[in-house]
Amino acid sequence: MTTPAPFEPVPEDVRALGDAVADWIGRHFDALGELPVVPDTTPEETFGRFTEPVPEHGMEWTAILERFERDVVPLSFHLPSPRYFGLMNPTPLPIAVLAEALAAALNQNLGAWHHSPAGTAIEATVVRWLCDLAGYPVTSFGSLTSGGSLANTTGLKIALAAKVPESTTRGLHGLAARPVFYASLEAHFSIEKSANILGLGGGEGLRKVPVDRTSRMDVAALRRMIADDRARGLNPFCVVGIAGVTSNGVIDPLEALADVAAESGLWYHVDAAYAAGALMSDALRPRLKGIERADSITMDPHKWWFMPYPCGAVLTKDGEAGRRAFTTGAVYIPQTDDAIEFRDHGMVGSRPFSALKLWMAVKLVGRQGYARMAEEQVALTERFVAELTKDGDWEAVTPVDTAIAAVRYTGRTGGQTDRLTDADLDAVQDRIVERVLESRRHWISATTTVGKRAIRVMVISYLTRWEHLEELIVALRRAAALP
Ligand SMILES: Cc1ncc(COP(=O)(O)O)c(C=O)c1O
Repeated sequence: MTTPAPFEPVPEDVRALGDAVADWIGRHFDALGELPVVPDTTPEETFGRFTEPVPEHGMEWTAILERFERDVVPLSFHLPSPRYFGLMNPTPLPIAVLAEALAAALNQNLGAWHHSPAGTAIEATVVRWLCDLAGYPVTSFGSLTSGGSLANTTGLKIALAAKVPESTTRGLHGLAARPVFYASLEAHFSIEKSANILGLGGGEGLRKVPVDRTSRMDVAALRRMIADDRARGLNPFCVVGIAGVTSNGVIDPLEALADVAAESGLWYHVDAAYAAGALMSDALRPRLKGIERADSITMDPHKWWFMPYPCGAVLTKDGEAGRRAFTTGAVYIPQTDDAIEFRDHGMVGSRPFSALKLWMAVKLVGRQGYARMAEEQVALTERFVAELTKDGDWEAVTPVDTAIAAVRYTGRTGGQTDRLTDADLDAVQDRIVERVLESRRHWISATTTVGKRAIRVMVISYLTRWEHLEELIVALRRAAALP
């Protein structure tokens, strides 16, 4: 095999490279079930393996692919494994993986319709699909983002621009009243980060609202905080509800929060980064009742819609709200009347064609296919909790609203934990997780929710079957039984 001249692509060479890559991807998906989830490596070894000077001369692509297989694959964390019960990182759909290559080949710039006519239309279509799933009106709109974090920051920026319009030109300096917003104590860290990025103050601009025993926002406490803050001369402008708390998948009382936002004149943003996936299902959709009343919504197709990274989305009920927050009038980009200019709806200028993979995947799977998968994953999670807790030594810390379980070992039946304090029992959860991880075969994590240490198990791979969870239950029980 000769090395293709890098700047003179010839179809046969591209095909040979593509075939080799597609062949590896196919074999990889086939092997996922047996690969250890966690690589056996250290930072020193990994960085050492890839510390190298700028190559002076090019090399054969076959050698580069060999290096990928030899060094990159074994030192990768296999998130797409069916035994990865982890942090909302899905097994990507093969069609979406390969769509990335097609999008890269077209290399459209989705910042301007002129540079991506079909791409812009496809992004508009997938945004429309997401708006429809949310129950939004035809006047709603949005854009794809790099993920839930940027979607949250974008949504909050739009909220600020809508409720404190002078902030877009004058900034926050000299405002008569300091803008503050509300999210529960269980909100994802990107909410606090957004408060920091937007100059609101991660510490003081974001007001953290207590939660009830199920980890849902305490609505009465929210009402009290808004009233107190107004009495102190602050300017409450937004409340954030969560559909799918990161620690436990629980959904805030979205309808009640919509009522509070409406009666208090606040913008209502729902962070449905994860649980938006449930909107595909007629059976699960009622769990998110009230989301249609949000002014803006974060959704992350790279979570429950099985997209490879990056693929997030932010939607606004008022389809012009994004443009009001972001338009600057860039003079050097061709402007087309009657077209959509996605750069005006968000923070990014040059934008990737992420819509292609989502468009292709939703066409391939269909709403009903996604619905079946989401329902299956929720059912697996419910069955896991029922099986693990049935003998009384384990408890569910929070309810199962989606496909995340937060469980805790209590050891009550045999009196093993009688003399342990709550703090001791918290440490036990961490120890159990550490022991389960030792095998590198499964991946689970520990978290703190409703003030307790809990073990977090999420069904996020479409390859996960009951047998994988049964194996995990055995591993959890064994880890808990060790002295
Ligand atoms: C509720 C919630 N919102 C936002 C995010 C951030 O998403 P991303 O990692 O895509 O930025 C996450 C990530 O897990 C999340 O759980």
